[in-house]
Amino acid sequence: QRVLVLNGPNLGRLGAREPTVYGSTTYPELVALCVRGGAELGLDVDVRQSDSEAELIGWIHEATDEDLPVVLNAGALTHTSIALRDAVAARTAPLVEVHISNVHAREDFRHHSYLSAVASGVIVGLGVEGYVLALSWLSSTLAGEAT
Ligand code: DQA
Repeated sequence: QRVLVLNGPNLGRLGAREPTVYGSTTYPELVALCVRGGAELGLDVDVRQSDSEAELIGWIHEATDEDLPVVLNAGALTHTSIALRDAVAARTAPLVEVHISNVHAREDFRHHSYLSAVASGVIVGLGVEGYVLALSWLSSTLAGEAT
């Protein structure tokens, strides 16, 4: 089973970017964590990052066309993009919204997500481990287990 792990603006700079907020795991390490963690769950994980809203929307369309489950950390687009929300709302397979930091413990503008209401579920504030937890939930959901 293929799964897309999609990362939005600035997440390619993980490790160097505000490590006190986002931790010291680098983006290549995050990719390796998702691919390895996914493989252990029997998932073929394709990890991508873009600073472009248009590219992220295109990837959600691709996931919809291929009925692929998604783990999505949209970065700041979470708090701004109705267009990304509309793409997410129109998809078919499960989608987990992930945030590395606890957005609710931060600035007010991070408390609202345009995506949460149309996501299957949300994982917030558990660091990069949140991606692996999201993959674990997807694998059990896709296997038809009760959740
Ligand atoms: C983030 C939280 C967002 O508010 C921020 O804009 C990011 C990263 C996170 O993973 O904690 O870029 O999505």
